[in-house]
Amino acid sequence: MTEEVELEDIKGVGAKTAEKLRDSGYEELMSIATMSSGELAEVADLGDKKAQGIITESRKELDIGFESGKERYDQREEMKRIMTGCEEFDEILGGGVETQAITEVYGEYGSAKTQISHQLATNVQLPRDEGGLGKGAVYVDTEDTFIPQRIEQMAEANGQDPEEVLDDIHVARAFNSDHQMLLADEAQEICQNNDIGLVVVDSLTAQFRSDYVGRGELAQRQQKLNKHMNTLLRLANAHNIAVLVTNQVMSNPDQMFGDPTKAIGGHIVAHNSAVRLYLRKSKKDKRIARLVDSPYMPEGEAVFKVADRGIVPEDF
Ligand SMILES: Nc1ncnc2c1ncn2[C@@H]1O[C@H](COP(=O)(O)OP(=O)(O)OP(=O)(O)O)[C@@H](O)[C@H]1O
Ligand SMILES: [Mg+2]
Repeated sequence: MTEEVELEDIKGVGAKTAEKLRDSGYEELMSIATMSSGELAEVADLGDKKAQGIITESRKELDIGFESGKERYDQREEMKRIMTGCEEFDEILGGGVETQAITEVYGEYGSAKTQISHQLATNVQLPRDEGGLGKGAVYVDTEDTFIPQRIEQMAEANGQDPEEVLDDIHVARAFNSDHQMLLADEAQEICQNNDIGLVVVDSLTAQFRSDYVGRGELAQRQQKLNKHMNTLLRLANAHNIAVLVTNQVMSNPDQMFGDPTKAIGGHIVAHNSAVRLYLRKSKKDKRIARLVDSPYMPEGEAVFKVADRGIVPEDF
């Protein structure tokens, strides 16, 4: 199912060495790739030269290293955008939600995170010249709030065939955080075998929050979240896909000192998201989106509305 490389797959690592490494807590390729040959030699009881060989092989497997600016440039040229349905909103994003990156949408309940998720899963299927990518979507639904009828409404408003649009959304309900991580692995397979332009995880953090409650579990939660987001980021880069994750804010009646503008998951989630959008409710059906973090766009705000037909400009 996953394409994870086992220790034994590395040239030079036999069953015995793999066992020693695991016993000493070195299960991940990355931890070996970043060791010094002296350290590895000691931990796995190997000669220095052999240890160096294993480190080199791990690095090769992980594809760590430099590439030319031109390669980067070319990859970036491939970046595409999915439009939201509100021009002002697209503008603060530099033209829409981008591929090859994780976009995090966070805000309080009812701020339209799920509405945006539905809208993008619909819009991604529009042709390129209509603001989509002409591709399907993967939708990981962790709060049981995916509503096919809502997709139908939005698709009809876009002039799309609702049945076809629903057919091209691969949706799965995640029952707990481990299941959610498993679904991200499965998504890799779906993305390999289908033409997918968007992966949605709504909500990224809710299951992790309820599975790791105690203070003592925080470190473990963050580590798992980090791993989960790494899987998503790999997907985004490997298949030129836009990844949209939603996240809630701290504000909570039983958290007296929660900051209503701070997202859950702290810097782990923030650092893994190239683009961060903070949503807040405004008068009536208006919502304000604020671009919080972008490597190349200025901070900006946009007002939009949620209507029957989906995300629309405020003067719609
Ligand atoms: N058909 C519709 N027409 C107009 N507004 C709608 C429609 N459907 C939903 N909404 C609006 O969207 C809001 C819900 O937004 P959404 O479910 O996206 O919130 P959320 O940010 O995902 O919240 P949570 O944190 O609870 O998941 C509703 O309060 C309503 O105002
Ligand atoms: Mg929601």
